Amino acid sequence: MAEESLTARQQREIDYHRDYAASKASEKLKPVNFDVVEDEKRRPHNAFWSTYDLLLAHDLKGGRALVPGCGFGEDAIRLARLGADVEAFDISPDIIDVARRRCAEFGYQNVSLGVMPCEALAFPDNSFDLVYFIDILHHVDIPKTMAEVVRVLKPGGRIIGNELYTHSFMQKRIRESWLVDKALYGAMKKFIYGDDKPYITEDEHKIDENEFAHVENACERFQARWFNAFVGRLAPDRLPLVAEIDRFGMSLLGDNGRFAAGRVVFEGVVGKA
Ligand SMILES: C[S@@+](CC[C@H](N)C(=O)[O-])C[C@H]1O[C@@H](n2cnc3c(N)ncnc32)[C@H](O)[C@@H]1O
Repeated sequence: MAEESLTARQQREIDYHRDYAASKASEKLKPVNFDVVEDEKRRPHNAFWSTYDLLLAHDLKGGRALVPGCGFGEDAIRLARLGADVEAFDISPDIIDVARRRCAEFGYQNVSLGVMPCEALAFPDNSFDLVYFIDILHHVDIPKTMAEVVRVLKPGGRIIGNELYTHSFMQKRIRESWLVDKALYGAMKKFIYGDDKPYITEDEHKIDENEFAHVENACERFQARWFNAFVGRLAPDRLPLVAEIDRFGMSLLGDNGRFAAGRVVFEGVVGKA
């Protein structure tokens, strides 16, 4: 990846993740937890588990899967465990270095790791059966990324994902209100994130309904499940009962959940000309 062709935003991501990768290396150079693909008892109130439920409904054996912005490689390694032939990449060479060392140390097979931006993929057209997004779209240029994803997916190819989301009304009228921004957020962030310094890069923001429309519109068939009206905003995700009540409320709202949600889990089949 030629440094001079990077945007300022992409360069900031690389710079931020240099220290982040170093700070997480010993924690991440450990075996991957496979509970979410192996446990029979499921957790449908949890967005992460629900994304895997969508995945587990398909036979991945022999298929080619792409994991953009793969971070330290957990999801890529799990997809390979399910039988997919996986290409995974991240814009941060430091993060990919840790992911490669992890695969080498624990003998994880069928995962090829690369360094590239989501907005310019080094894969030929019609290469993949599946693209699996986890917490990446809020870091990237979504229209450019979706154009690339559609290009590299085969006709009938599928996207499955789980992303931070907030409707613009919620963001502008509530999250950015004086009360929440200046008074509540500072007091509550340690309780919610378990850390005074949450992992948030300078440019990232929850995607809103207009940005999410680029994902929906790239698909000829699409479904979304809405999560986390309270979890991650007023309560940490380590309280399963709160998460169950939250998800129950969101399921009653159906697709109107998009006005209250803090996360979206989705699946679509891309439309290709
Ligand atoms: C919140 S992390 C998510 C990582 C992983 N998907 C996970 O769920 O653990 C976001 C990742 O996106 C990567 N990233 C940021 N901008 C990117 C871009 N334009 N293209 C590819 N990766 C990018 C970062 O380096 C970081 O590893």
